[in-house]
This record gives sequence, C-alpha cells and structure tokens, in this order.
Amino acid sequence: MVDLPKRLTVFICSLALLFSAPALAVPSSSQKYLSQQALTDILDRSAPIAGIDSGCQKKAKTCDWMAKFSDNTKLVHMNLPGTHDTSTWNYSDATQASLIRYTGPIPPANRYRCQQASILDSLNAGVRVFDLRFAYNPGNDTIGFYHSQALLAPNTRMEDLFFALYNWLDNHPTEAVLVSMNHEGGTGTPDDSALYEKLYHILNTPLAQKYWVQASGTLGTLGAARGKLTLLQRWSYNKLPSDLTKRIGIPLDRSWTDNGKAIELVYNTDKNQVAFIEDFYEIDNVPLGSGPTAYIDSKFEVLTAHITNATSKSLNPDQLYISFASAAFINDTPAMSPEVFAVGSGADVPGINQKLLPWLKERKGQRFGIIMLDFWDAVPGLVEAAIGL
Ligand SMILES: *[C@@H]1O[C@H](CO)[C@@H](O)[C@H](O)[C@H]1NC(C)=O
Ligand SMILES: *[C@@H]1O[C@H](CO)[C@@H](O)[C@H](O)[C@H]1NC(C)=O
Ligand SMILES: *[C@@H]1O[C@H](CO)[C@@H](O)[C@H](O)[C@H]1NC(C)=O
Repeated sequence: MVDLPKRLTVFICSLALLFSAPALAVPSSSQKYLSQQALTDILDRSAPIAGIDSGCQKKAKTCDWMAKFSDNTKLVHMNLPGTHDTSTWNYSDATQASLIRYTGPIPPANRYRCQQASILDSLNAGVRVFDLRFAYNPGNDTIGFYHSQALLAPNTRMEDLFFALYNWLDNHPTEAVLVSMNHEGGTGTPDDSALYEKLYHILNTPLAQKYWVQASGTLGTLGAARGKLTLLQRWSYNKLPSDLTKRIGIPLDRSWTDNGKAIELVYNTDKNQVAFIEDFYEIDNVPLGSGPTAYIDSKFEVLTAHITNATSKSLNPDQLYISFASAAFINDTPAMSPEVFAVGSGADVPGINQKLLPWLKERKGQRFGIIMLDFWDAVPGLVEAAIGL
C-alpha cells in the first residue's frame, strides 16, 4: 500500500470538505481508505511509464542531492542530468508485440529504445530532467506517450504520470524536476486543437497548479522550484484557443533548429534569456559504412564542444545550456541504435557514456548545465559526474 503523501491528502481532504457537511470536516477513516486506494490505482496505471518507486538506498547521495544547494541558486547555474526519450525505458520486442494491434508492424524495438531505467529509479539516482513525447493514446481520447510510431503504454495517461511525479516530490520536497514535453509526430494520431486543450486543462487543474512552477517564460531559482515540476514547453500553442491564457512554462518551441549543433534560442526577449542547445542526433557528417567508432567520435566532439562552452565563465554564464548526449538510429551496417551510440559496441568500442564519464570528472566543479543522456545507468557514476557530486 502506498503512503498517501501530505499534500495530496490535504488536497483530497479539502475536496471532501467542499462536498460534505461541516460535521464531516475530519475525514472519516473510510474516506482515507478511499483516497489511498484511488492513488494506488493511479500509480498502477502510471507504472508502464513511471515505473515503480523502489525507494532510496540509505546514504545514497543522489536521492535528495539538491538539498545541499541554497534556495537562491539559479537553475541556469546548476548541473542537471536528464534522460532523452525518457518513456522508452521498458520498450522491448515483447512490448512492441503486445501493442501490434494498435501500431501494425514497425521496425524493431531497439530503434526506439533510449533508456533502461524507469523514471522513478532515475529520480532516485539523481536525474532531474525528463523528455516526454506525447500524442493521443489509441481512441484519441487521452494523451499518452510515444517515440515516433512506437506507442509505449496505451492505458497510461499523461495525468497518471504526473501523479507519480507529484507523489515522488512529496517524498523529496527539496528536489526540483524539469519536464520537457513535445508533440510526437509520425504516430498517425490527430494533431488537433482538442489535444492542446486537453493538455492545457491537465496542466491547470487546482492540483496541477500546486505542483507546477507557475512562472511563465522564465527560469528562476531552485528555491522557487523545489517540490515542483518546471515545464520546458517544446510544443506549439498555435492550435490552442486564444482565450485559454494561463500558459505556464519556458517556451522552447520557437527556432529549435532540427539536428542543430549549436542552437541559440531566445525564450524571453524582455529578460534577454537565451537557451544554448546542442541537439545533433542524426550524425550525418560521417559517410555511411564508417562504423561505430567514427559515428561516436563525431557525436562526442560536437557534444563536448557544446559543454565546453557551458563551462566557460566568460561566454554565457547566466544562460541555460542543454546538451544532448544521445544520437539516433542510422540506417547503416552495423546498425547504430541509440544503445550503440550510448554504450558502444563491445570492449573495443566505447560509447558516448564511457567517454563522457572521465571527461566530466576532469572538469568537476564546473557548470555543465543540462545534459540529456541515453542509457545513463549502463555506466556507473555517470549521473554523479554530470551533477558534479
Ligand atoms: C515492461 O514490459 C513487459 C513486456 O511487455 C511487461 O510485461 C511489464 O509489465 C512492463 N513493466 C511495467 C512496469 O509496466
Ligand atoms: C483516431 O485518429 C486517427 C487519425 O485521424 C483515425 O484514423 C482513427 O480512426 C481515430 N480513432 C478513433 C477511435 O476515433
Ligand atoms: C561556443 O561559443 C562560441 C563563441 O560564442 C561560438 O562561436 C561557438 O559556436 C560555440 N560552440 C558551440 C558548440 O556551441
């Protein structure tokens, strides 16, 4: 049985208060039982995407690592490890086969899979940024999770995952979590205004307003973000009716150049806030047939050039840096799956992650910004190095 966290209890109890006579102001034990069961059901539904919280090991440095930072620390000054295409962590050939009635035949699962640790395990291990790709679930009624055509969990709704994150934050109130969301194309589902209205309402329920940083268009301090989710908005609000004006988040949808090696994206003109982004995922500067080492070296060079800029005290020390360590499948032989990019191919060909670990360790104490990883847990110590612990 899941312990009902404090803020959720308060919320559910105040709902109970609204609808009950004053004599019932103190929730009866049956109401507690009902709300506990309701949360358990939602967490069960979220599990294919969130995973199951196996808790924190005693003395683990990563579970609550932000507790050591002062409230006035600016988020742009922090080192925040993230996971790219977060929701793919359990996407195997077995998962794919079980969903083929929705997707039809599609390429093998390893083309889509970028992670092997669940979101909750990643949180406990210190990961603080999550990259979610959404589109309608089968039936076009609820919003779910995809990587390209690969439907990931047809019964898990966006709001179920958010509940799991709220629940984790209740247990880790010193921590701040960033959620990057964009609409996934190529899923065959409608990209209509109703989708964005649904998403808008999910982000604006009274409950969501308590758990999402409400500031719009600007990244603030750790103090203001603790115990909450901060939205990195990578979808366009173009299709949202204009009377729906409560739009939270850091707008990163404009001028995010596809496959960019050094994107400069102004997300707040008034405050002159800029995001510097490396999102070079399709390694197209290496001839086909060059083999894994050439692809990995090329990506590693672009990645570390970008993080090097993030470490510079003179370039843009007060701006946001996001570097993607991940790269995508390329139709080559041997196949360059996200996993081969991340962890290499056998002992002779180290992946991005093996190469990145010593590189980051040598620069411990410097500002790296956000680094989005694939298969982060395949190389022990990588997340700690990305944080600078
Ligand atoms: C992971 O995928 C397998 C195979 O499809 C499935 O049996 C299992 O329930 C999934 N795990 C979770 C937590 O959903
Ligand atoms: C969902 O949308 C797709 C694409 O528009 C359509 O083919 C499908 O029939 C829709 N499904 C339902 C249940 O409406
Ligand atoms: C690093 O900063 C320099 C100076 O602003 C810029 O010209 C260069 O493109 C940047 N490189 C990367 C990879 O971001």
